[in-house]
Amino acid sequence: MTQHRVLVVDDEEAARYSIGKALEAAGYAVEVASTAGEALKIQESFNPDVILTDISMPEMNGIQFIQQLRARPLPPPVIVVTASHTYDIAVQSLRQGAADYLTKPFDLEQLRNSVRRAIERRQLKLENLEYQRELEEKNRRLQEAEEMLRKHALELEERVQLGTQALLETELRYRELFNLANDAIFTVDAATGQILEANLQAEKLTGYSGEELSNMKVQDLYSKQELERVAKFESELAKAGCGCGVTGDIPFRTRDGQRIVLNVSCSMIEMNARQVINLMGRDVTAIREVEAELARYTQELEQKFEEKKKQLLQSQSQLVQAEKMAALGSLVAGVAHEINNPLGSINANNDILALAFRKVQDFVRLHPPGDGTDAEQELDEIRSIGKEALQTNRMACDRILKIVRSLRNFARLDEAERKKADIHEGIESTITLVAHEIKGRIRVTKEFGNVREIECYPNQLNQVFMNMLVNASQAIEGEGEIRIRTWEQDNTVRVAISDTGKGIPAELYSKIFDPGFTTKKAGLGTGLGLSICLRIVQDHGGRIEIESQVGRGTTFTIILPVEGAPERKTND
Ligand SMILES: Nc1ncnc2c1ncn2[C@@H]1O[C@H](COP(=O)(O)OP(=O)(O)OP(=O)(O)O)[C@@H](O)[C@H]1O
Ligand SMILES: [Mg+2]
Repeated sequence: MTQHRVLVVDDEEAARYSIGKALEAAGYAVEVASTAGEALKIQESFNPDVILTDISMPEMNGIQFIQQLRARPLPPPVIVVTASHTYDIAVQSLRQGAADYLTKPFDLEQLRNSVRRAIERRQLKLENLEYQRELEEKNRRLQEAEEMLRKHALELEERVQLGTQALLETELRYRELFNLANDAIFTVDAATGQILEANLQAEKLTGYSGEELSNMKVQDLYSKQELERVAKFESELAKAGCGCGVTGDIPFRTRDGQRIVLNVSCSMIEMNARQVINLMGRDVTAIREVEAELARYTQELEQKFEEKKKQLLQSQSQLVQAEKMAALGSLVAGVAHEINNPLGSINANNDILALAFRKVQDFVRLHPPGDGTDAEQELDEIRSIGKEALQTNRMACDRILKIVRSLRNFARLDEAERKKADIHEGIESTITLVAHEIKGRIRVTKEFGNVREIECYPNQLNQVFMNMLVNASQAIEGEGEIRIRTWEQDNTVRVAISDTGKGIPAELYSKIFDPGFTTKKAGLGTGLGLSICLRIVQDHGGRIEIESQVGRGTTFTIILPVEGAPERKTND
């Protein structure tokens, strides 16, 4: 419990003492002062809860003391204690703010009660003050809050105003866009299809007025013959659900019965608890017609292209056939020429032998044995003629045999399958067959290396050698040389056919392999030779290299893998 403090002010020591003691006995902390001046000083440091003061004191009496005290903040209550028992003093002191009034002599009970009441009142007053302060604080805060609320309300009002303005502007802009849009825009009730809104372009495209449209359902606008397409689109839209867009072409029917196709973008939204479809459509009737026309045209072109391709393939195979015939023709001509010479010899010898035989017959008839003529010399002559003729005939037959063998070797008709073969055999027989082309005019030099047999279709490779040798001989005007070298390198067998012909300009290197490219006179070349050579060599997994100098000559090098091509399609 807090001990309350009491300040006793009396110039009379006995009084100070007795009052002090009485209050100490009652549990108060007591300080005493003999003058009002001293009491004012003590009051600052002691801070009494109550002051008991005498009235008549030297220098400053009790009334003045009370006045001075009241000038200070929160002055403690003052109980006036005096011997001068007058009503006036009591009234005056109470007027000045004294809390109570005691007259001496007083009984102690009266003193203690008065002090207690004064303290209680003071406390009440202090509490009251505290409450008041709190109240004021709360009031202040309330006012602040009110001020804030007011400001907030103002701000809100301002914002609402701005928002309303923006909304109005947006609405205005939306209206403008809605009506200016190049696309037809409809707002439709999803449940019934009722058109809720339609823009100017929608009126223009459908031919209906805004009022007419507002009394229509969107399904009234669809082309009745193509409702299946519309139904598919609608089910897609329903599947997509709210907030998702669906796009597609929908056929519409205008007021005057015309069919138009709109490329439509649709989306469903929820507005005021009902589902609404926003439908935006662009007229693509003309575009779709052009597209369809284009597709038809493309198909037609494709068809024509296929036909042309077929025709080309046909004519290509005809050309290849023609080339083969031409090659065969020149081969046959060459062979005929080659066989013609030895046959001429045999023929001539036949006459000689017939003559010799006739001579023997005549001789025997004219000179029977034992007629005495010198038959020996005559018979020797005839025998020598016969011997010479037989020798020539044997050579001629050898030549024919060689040609026939070469022909068989070249054609290799019995070896149309892939097999291991010595390319030298093929080259040799090919040279024999082109002999008539080059004989006397072109010297053929062979430098055959030690090469392995290769996996190949020999008859096809012979065609390559034949083409190349004929090209080389045709490139040489007058006299010249063809050199054929073979060697093995990097697991490939190489055949280089060089000529001292007119050469090929570099810009033609890639062209000469094109089917049909020829620099030869009409009827002389088909231009297929090298393209066939290239195809055959590539089918064998190989390649052809060219080296040429205009005016000096050309070398074609055929490079063939020893193992042949990994897999191969047969040549026609
Ligand atoms: N050794 C070569 N020297 C110079 N030019 C050549 C030689 N080989 C080919 N050419 C050129 O390449 C062209 C095409 O040759 P290719 O063998 O494909 O056809 P072609 O010889 O003209 O006709 P074909 O082979 O049907 O008789 C020839 O016309 C010629 O101009
Ligand atoms: Mg040729």
